[in-house]
Amino acid sequence: MTKRKFRKHIACIGAGYVGGPTMAVIASQCPDIKVTVVDISAPRIAAWESDNLPIYEPGLLDVVKKARGRNLFFSTEIDAAVRAAGIVFVSVNTPTKTFGEGAGKAADLQYWEKTARNIVRVADSDKIIVEKSTLPVRTAHAMERILNANSKGIHFEVASNPEFLAEGSAVKDLLSPDRVLIGTHETKAGLAARRELVDLYAHWVDRKNIVTSNVWSAELSKLAANAFLAQRISSINSISAICEKTEADVAEVGHAIGMDSRIGSKFLQASVGFGGSCFRKDILNLVYLCEHYGLAEVAHYWEYVVRMNDFQITRFVRTMISAMFNTIAKKRIALFGFAFKANTGDTRESPAIYITRKLLEEQAHVVITDPKALANAKADLSDCKGTVEFVSDPYAAVRGAHAMALCTEWNEYTRLDYKRIFASMEKPAFVFDGRNILDHRRLFEIGFNVFPVGKRPLTHF
Ligand code: NAD
Ligand code: UGA
Repeated sequence: MTKRKFRKHIACIGAGYVGGPTMAVIASQCPDIKVTVVDISAPRIAAWESDNLPIYEPGLLDVVKKARGRNLFFSTEIDAAVRAAGIVFVSVNTPTKTFGEGAGKAADLQYWEKTARNIVRVADSDKIIVEKSTLPVRTAHAMERILNANSKGIHFEVASNPEFLAEGSAVKDLLSPDRVLIGTHETKAGLAARRELVDLYAHWVDRKNIVTSNVWSAELSKLAANAFLAQRISSINSISAICEKTEADVAEVGHAIGMDSRIGSKFLQASVGFGGSCFRKDILNLVYLCEHYGLAEVAHYWEYVVRMNDFQITRFVRTMISAMFNTIAKKRIALFGFAFKANTGDTRESPAIYITRKLLEEQAHVVITDPKALANAKADLSDCKGTVEFVSDPYAAVRGAHAMALCTEWNEYTRLDYKRIFASMEKPAFVFDGRNILDHRRLFEIGFNVFPVGKRPLTHF
């Protein structure tokens, strides 16, 4: 068999929620480029090689299947992939530091630095190293020092190409992104790297949507974009708290303000609070950077976005307790949805984790159901001492419960037979709709006591 010749070789270190889908889309759109995705986790790589992908993402399996074995490869042989590649994307995790200086806020860059040192060790030719992970602004500076302190005469050009995909819509976001951002230095080598990366994305993204900038702007834009998105959610959630006190309706307020084209209608959905692996981590990272640069007021400003989110989650549980006669001990409560949003099995920083823990502290009997996230939910709660059950059938989960609390906006929860659910529950039966997706009036007419977010409760008392 003749070996296929590729025009270019790309490696991606880190086969997670970003590395896997991003590279699958690049490979599917660029058949002339060989893309190898590597990871230290052998089970993760094995899953990428199977039809049981390690992450649930609508449409992803089709994209992977289109390119896998043709020009898309998954491997644990990191060194070989790096050596062969002209462009190395790094999309390893960058969690919040849990120890030492900056603990609880700063980004923990140990995985990134380890990766950089490994690249230096194994490389035998010049390479473009692309920051795909979300990193504090000016990380490229440190990385350049590590990478270019080699005695092999190799040049590494560091570029920042942050990823803006959202989970649950990753494939769509990658195939038609609002923009692709490429930050490079404006030196000869930097501009050459910029051209290479622009040409790569131009295989399928309109060039007018490929934005170039200096490295620092690209790094900071990623943190700023997440901070702005999260800020909108905290803003509408803060308004939801006022609505509950004043009989204003947060959906009506959101609609009215969102029709102002300067504000826009997206990301105004009041909720139980935002979750996900990045908003909290990236804002806290921004806060840490502000503190580092002596910008205390700016740090406080952004920190409040996270504090408002904590408040919203806590408020949801307080509403449950007070509605249920100030005691939920021994009461069965069914949580509908554990993923941090619909269409993903990801539960990282999901509000449902905090809600479950608070309900267990009150000695409630918590039953969790979710179409895609039960395995992750079990892992998240493995240290919990109280009574917690995991049940895939929502009807079984809610049977005999005093309350159901909807935490994730899975579409299927709007289509359940609520008469059947009501009949199977203890009375009085409560619904706490943390996403405002259910038909509250109808539930009330069936007999439920309904507590939405930012709207007047509908109760029979
Ligand atoms: P993830 O935890 O799903 O994946 C990271 C992968 O890197 C893991 O599989 C891990 O085994 C691997 N890894 C860690 N160290 C390694 C090493 N030294 N060599 C090889 N592999 C290594 O994380 P993720 O959600 O994909 O996020 C990655 C980065 O992308 C983060 O900086 C995150 O902030 C950013 N980001 C995430 C999203 C998202 O939706 N999840 C979106 C945009 C940006
Ligand atoms: C977010 C950003 O949207 C992406 O652009 C970014 O790339 C990514 O973070 C990242 O850096 O990781 P993601 O967290 O996957 O993506 O999902 P979002 O759709 O942003 O939702 C985040 C959280 O906010 C979810 O819990 C969601 O339910 C909640 N949300 C969202 C609301 O409560 N209300 C809204 O109106 C919108």
